[in-house]
Amino acid sequence: MKAAVLPGVDTPLETRDDIEIAPPGPGEVRVKVVASGVCHSDLSVQNGTIPLPTPIVLGHEGAGIVEEIGDGVTKVAVGDHVVLSFVPACGECYTCTNGQPFLCEKSRAQAAGGLLDGTTRLTSNGAPLHQMACLGTYGPYAIVPEISVVKIPDDVPLDIAALIGCGVLTGVGAALNTANIRPGGTVAVIGCGGVGLNVIQGARIAGATTIIAVDMLPSKLEMAKEFGATHTVNAGDGDPVAGVMAASEGRGADVTFEVIGLGPTIEQAINMARPGGEVVLVGVPRLDVMMNLNAAFTFLYLAKTIKGCWYGSSDVNADVPKLLDLWRSGELKLKELISKEIDVDHINEAFADMQAGTVARSVIVHTHD
Ligand code: APR
Ligand code: ZN
Ligand code: ZN
Repeated sequence: MKAAVLPGVDTPLETRDDIEIAPPGPGEVRVKVVASGVCHSDLSVQNGTIPLPTPIVLGHEGAGIVEEIGDGVTKVAVGDHVVLSFVPACGECYTCTNGQPFLCEKSRAQAAGGLLDGTTRLTSNGAPLHQMACLGTYGPYAIVPEISVVKIPDDVPLDIAALIGCGVLTGVGAALNTANIRPGGTVAVIGCGGVGLNVIQGARIAGATTIIAVDMLPSKLEMAKEFGATHTVNAGDGDPVAGVMAASEGRGADVTFEVIGLGPTIEQAINMARPGGEVVLVGVPRLDVMMNLNAAFTFLYLAKTIKGCWYGSSDVNADVPKLLDLWRSGELKLKELISKEIDVDHINEAFADMQAGTVARSVIVHTHD
C-alpha cells in the first residue's frame, strides 16, 4: 500500500508505495482508514517536540471501517464504522478502572512506536515501519489494537468522525472533563487552531458566558467567534494578558487554557487566570520547556490550580457517543473544522498550511484500490 512516511526528525514526509501490512494479530483489527486529520502533534513528531522512533507512519486522528479481526476480538465486527482513539483504553487496568482511561497503562507501549506488544505490522522495503499512537492514519489501512477503536453509527460521515479522534475529544474534553467551568463563568483560550476551537465550543457547551479567544492570526480569531468566543485578543497587538484582564473586569479568567505548547504562552495562561482560578495545559511543549516555567510564585500565593490535560481527560467509549449526540443536536460543530480535504500526496503542503495558520484542519481522504 501507499502511505506517508516520516523518514527521520526534521525531514519532509515521503509517500512510499512499497509498504507491506501484516494481518491482524490476536486482539487486533485491520481498519480501512477512510479519513485522517492533520494535527499539530504530527508536526511535533516531525520536528522532534514529541520524540518517537522513525521511520514512522504518522497520523493519530482517524476514522474508518473494520475489514478484518484477529483472534479473540469481541469489541467490533467486520464492517463496523469506527473512530480511532489515539490512546488505547483496556478497561481493566488500575487507571482505566479508576476513572482515568486516558492514562490506560497499556498506552505506555506507544512510546516505542509499535502496537501493544512493541512490534509493528508495517514494513517498507523489508524494514520495519513504526506506527504513531498504535495507529498510523496517514496510511489507507492500519492494524490497530481493538482497544483503540470505538464503534460509531454508519450514518456519521467518516471525515468528520476522524476529527473526533484527537482534536474534538481533546479540546471539548479539556473544557467538559478536565476543567471545572461553571455556568456563567469566564474562560480564556490561547491558541485557536484545530484543538483550541474545540476548547472554545466545549466552554460554550459547559455554559461559560465570557469566552476570550487569544491568537496571533485575525482569521483564527474570526473562526473562534463562530465557535463561541465572545471576545478576541490579538496576541500580535500587545500583551495578551492585559487584553484578557480588560475583558474580565480586571480579574482574570476563572479558567484559562493553553492550546499551543510554548513556554511564553503557558506563562501567559498562568498569569491571565484570576486568583483562585484554574489553568489547563493542553498544548504539548518540548520537554525542556516544561522544566523551565517561570511562574511558580503564583501557584501558591494566588492559589491557582494548574492541570495537565491529556486527551481531554476522556473516556473514549463513553465520550464519543456523547459528542455525536451533541453534534446531532447542533451544539457541536464538526464539519466547520475542516478547511481542506487533501490526498496523502499533499501532506507536506498540509504541514506548511498548518504552520502558516491558514487552516483549522486539513483532512486526508484516502483512496483504496
Ligand atoms: N500566541 C497566540 N497564538 C499563537 C501563538 C502565540 N505566540 N503561536 C501560535 N499561535 C496559534 C496559531 O496561530 C494557531 O492558530 O496557535 C494555534 C495552533 O493551532 P494548530 O497549529 O492548528 O495546532 P492544534 O492542532 O490545534 O494543536 C495545538 O495541542 O494537541 C496539542 O500537540 C498539539 O501542542 C499542540 C496543540
Ligand atoms: Zn492530535
Ligand atoms: Zn487500561
